[in-house]
Amino acid sequence: MPGQALESHLKPGTVAIYPGSFDPLTNGHLDVIARGSKLVSRLIVAVLTNTQKATPLFAVPERLEIIKHATAHLPNVEVDGFGGLLVDYAAGQNATVILRGIRAISDYENELQMALLNRRMRPDLETVFLMASEEYSFVSSRMIREIVQLGGDVTSFVPPVVLARLRAKISPDALD
Ligand code: PNS
Repeated sequence: MPGQALESHLKPGTVAIYPGSFDPLTNGHLDVIARGSKLVSRLIVAVLTNTQKATPLFAVPERLEIIKHATAHLPNVEVDGFGGLLVDYAAGQNATVILRGIRAISDYENELQMALLNRRMRPDLETVFLMASEEYSFVSSRMIREIVQLGGDVTSFVPPVVLARLRAKISPDALD
């Protein structure tokens, strides 16, 4: 409920990392961030900085700005960039939880592999999965990049700040 005191469902003080590429941030990501932020004391949205992608839609600093803007209403959410191993970054932040969203069964195999690898490297770090809301279960950054590059409309898939940045790319004067 709006205005209600924040109450963590996990152990008080729990710090979680929500890692990803976020190129671009989607409504599905935002949904996971909003729901995840209710479970923990601190949620750090961590953007991978040393990505190998040849043609990103947004550079990493712009992605950080976008996520900060889109999560400004969530007081226990922070945004940061990370390079190297996720488990090392998480340990450095005193995090005990990695948060990931799962949309469909097709996500499961890759997510299971990552979670098990991360657990082998740092057994004290638990990966927690949230099921994406069904209304966003088909939305992926990769598809959005493709639609944008082919001139399609992504209005219903991404937050307004992403739309504004996309418009600004087409016409730089459009950004306030
Ligand atoms: O949004 P993505 O691309 O699905 O996010 C993938 C991400 C960034 C979570 C993953 O590639 C990652 O953790 N990279 C950091 C390097 C690392 O720790 N690799 C070992 C675990 S697979």
